[in-house]
Amino acid sequence: MVTKVIAISKENRAAVLREAGEIMKAGGLVAFPTETVYGLGGDALNPASAKKIYEAKGRPSDNPLIVHIAAMEALPAIVEEVPETAKRLASLFWPGPLTMILKKAERVPKETTGGLDTVAVRMPVHDVALDFIQAAGGYVAAPSANRSGRPSPTTAAYVAEDMEGRIEMILDGGQATLGLESTIVDLTVEPPMLLRPGFVTEEMLSVALGEVAVDETLLCGDSGQAPKAPGMKYRHYAPKGELVIVRGSEAAVTAAINERLLAGRAENKKTGVIATDETVERYEADVHFGMGEKGSAKAAAERLYRILRECDDEGVELILSEYFDDEGVGAAVMNRLRKAAGYHIIDV
Ligand code: TXA
Ligand code: MG
Repeated sequence: MVTKVIAISKENRAAVLREAGEIMKAGGLVAFPTETVYGLGGDALNPASAKKIYEAKGRPSDNPLIVHIAAMEALPAIVEEVPETAKRLASLFWPGPLTMILKKAERVPKETTGGLDTVAVRMPVHDVALDFIQAAGGYVAAPSANRSGRPSPTTAAYVAEDMEGRIEMILDGGQATLGLESTIVDLTVEPPMLLRPGFVTEEMLSVALGEVAVDETLLCGDSGQAPKAPGMKYRHYAPKGELVIVRGSEAAVTAAINERLLAGRAENKKTGVIATDETVERYEADVHFGMGEKGSAKAAAERLYRILRECDDEGVELILSEYFDDEGVGAAVMNRLRKAAGYHIIDV
């Protein structure tokens, strides 16, 4: 299959979205930009499309997909009911980086929900995403557009790296501005439960809903429990090299990271370091990755997946990372970074 990669412009936009919509209605796959990461879209109401998505991603088919909608009016048709909690969250955070788990309606195929009776729904805020969803018939099932086990793609070029030859079309809408996947909250349980941290933070959900529980498996990899969002159980985002996070006072972290980098060099390993812009040049690494200014979780979120891909591109074998601010949006950054490190954190 030849994958068409098309940069959306003012001139071609209407025609390209029409073509993308036709591909989707015929059961094909189109990758599209959202504000979080690029999605790999198929018709959510067509079981055959869901199967193709799993194949293209190399993802196990028990991992449910998020259904993307472009208007609140589209919601009632795919869920058993729209609870008050969902209305409240939608009015506050949709369109935007929030996914809600609700009881699914009959017409959503089990292929889309990985066999579950619930469905994940999100209304993205990216204007190309919204127009694409409309053109595709209103219901787009889309996981992140990476091959399983790779970091989620934040540019069309990264999508092409993973999906060239596997899907019909890639819509290039520029860089994903947020850079991390949506927050997921399960509204089918009482109290509602946060399954994946993101830009809509736990604090923001608590203000809107009152008590919010947090899936315990988010914090460590070896709790022995299955995470509530099936996709969270897979080894994700791991660079090919060994990644270790070091936490402690600034001076202790600098010393500990440099000690390990020098030991890696002594073993002829190519080394890398992930640190704030202020501190990154202090380290004795072959490759330096700046995560943005200290305390800026947004900058860190935007850069993290690019940095993890670059570690592989540069062939870095040992990567040391500082521990970043884990409040607010930082909780999402550290959730992804911890997973990438296989939960290998050293306290100094
Ligand atoms: O920002 C995002 O959410 C991006 C963009 C493309 O919208 N999408 C995304 O999809 O991150 P994906 O497939 O990579 O992650 C979806 C997560 C998985 O961990 C999956 O297990 C969980 O959502 N999920 C989906 N449906 C679920 C359900 N019914 N119950 C529990 N978890 C569910
Ligand atoms: Mg994903």
